[in-house]
Amino acid sequence: MADKAQKKELRAIKKFNAARYREYNKTMKRKKVPESKYLTRMKNPDNIIEFDDLRTYFYTNVGTVKAVDGVTFDIPKGKTIGVVGESGCGKSVTSLSVMRLLQGPQGQIAGGQIRFNQQSTGRALDLTKAGIKEMEKIRGNEISMIFQEPMTTLNPVFTIGDQLCECISLHNPEMGKKAVEERALETLKMVGIVREGILKNYPHELSGGMRQRVVIAMALSCDPQLIIADEPTTALDVTIQAQILDLLRDLKDKINASIMLITHDLGVVAEMADYVVVMYAGRIVEQGTADEIFHHPAHPYTIGLMKSRPMLNTRVDRLYSIPGNVPNPINLPEHCYFKNRCESCVEACNGKYPELVSLTKTHKVSCYLHQNKQETGGEA
Ligand SMILES: Nc1ncnc2c1ncn2[C@@H]1O[C@H](COP(=O)(O)OP(=O)(O)OP(=O)(O)O)[C@@H](O)[C@H]1O
Ligand SMILES: [Mg+2]
Repeated sequence: MADKAQKKELRAIKKFNAARYREYNKTMKRKKVPESKYLTRMKNPDNIIEFDDLRTYFYTNVGTVKAVDGVTFDIPKGKTIGVVGESGCGKSVTSLSVMRLLQGPQGQIAGGQIRFNQQSTGRALDLTKAGIKEMEKIRGNEISMIFQEPMTTLNPVFTIGDQLCECISLHNPEMGKKAVEERALETLKMVGIVREGILKNYPHELSGGMRQRVVIAMALSCDPQLIIADEPTTALDVTIQAQILDLLRDLKDKINASIMLITHDLGVVAEMADYVVVMYAGRIVEQGTADEIFHHPAHPYTIGLMKSRPMLNTRVDRLYSIPGNVPNPINLPEHCYFKNRCESCVEACNGKYPELVSLTKTHKVSCYLHQNKQETGGEA
């Protein structure tokens, strides 16, 4: 009997997904989309990117995974935003949504906007609606991405020169071979690689730190306005990590770019970020300036994250760990997703998911403990 009900449910999911896939094939795979469909206006022209209620879902055979479910935050020009949260909370899916590199038709942007302030044209584009042709112009040129593991980003059978030069000439088709090579060497110099004959080396001939520098060089070779770095230092040891972070910070100022830095390492965020976004199970639970998040964390999850950091001058036998697990991303509850792990629960937490309230102009939190502390305007 239970088996029958289960089969019926699976059939219903399949039918629901088939409709989503059809819709995707009709709209998202279009190469050229009329400008009127994706041109938009920035809420604030000083922002490079504005995420507005972004929803990215995966329609799987066992149900819909709401990987990103109503995420809203801005990346101001020239600033670094740190996105933190534990594994599976939707950090990478948020960044892949910007680049439109989701695995479709299962993975789709189901709603919301990602407004991009395109400096080269002065236009604002909604990246969730732009056609493939438009996205190809943006990827690598205006927004570039640094992935976690340099060995999987670089192709092992091509030399560094082949890969870097291909990247440069693809985005600058007017450049001749010599100019492309010069640009490649210049970019490698910018990331601190001045080794003779480097262009003829294969990835396996370089150390992990050098490989990540090459990946960063590729990401920077076309002077992007926004660099998305998804765990850029996780595969590296601590000393190289520090060097790569210094490098990113220097380069950001040199080319005047913004950085979206995704990491689960709070130390990295503290060192790099101007603003911090804390995600939990596909939603933002808290956001603010780095100072607000590190010195005045308001959400019990953020407070738990801060407590779980090792601190200098403080001896503890065991580091704090937040009890319990993230809820199943399929069939998330109606109430606050953190409720079952929270040590500060109140009666209201059994009600609907808490709204995001502003504690200051920049500091927002989604928790019933703060629902009546809403700021009533004025400066932070
Ligand atoms: N191709 C996919 N199909 C189905 N679900 C997916 C797919 N890719 C990601 N997800 C789901 O989306 C959610 C968010 O994943 P995401 O990769 O963004 O996590 P993350 O925050 O980057 O985690 P980590 O710190 O481990 O990299 C997870 O629940 C994951 O299982
Ligand atoms: Mg990830």
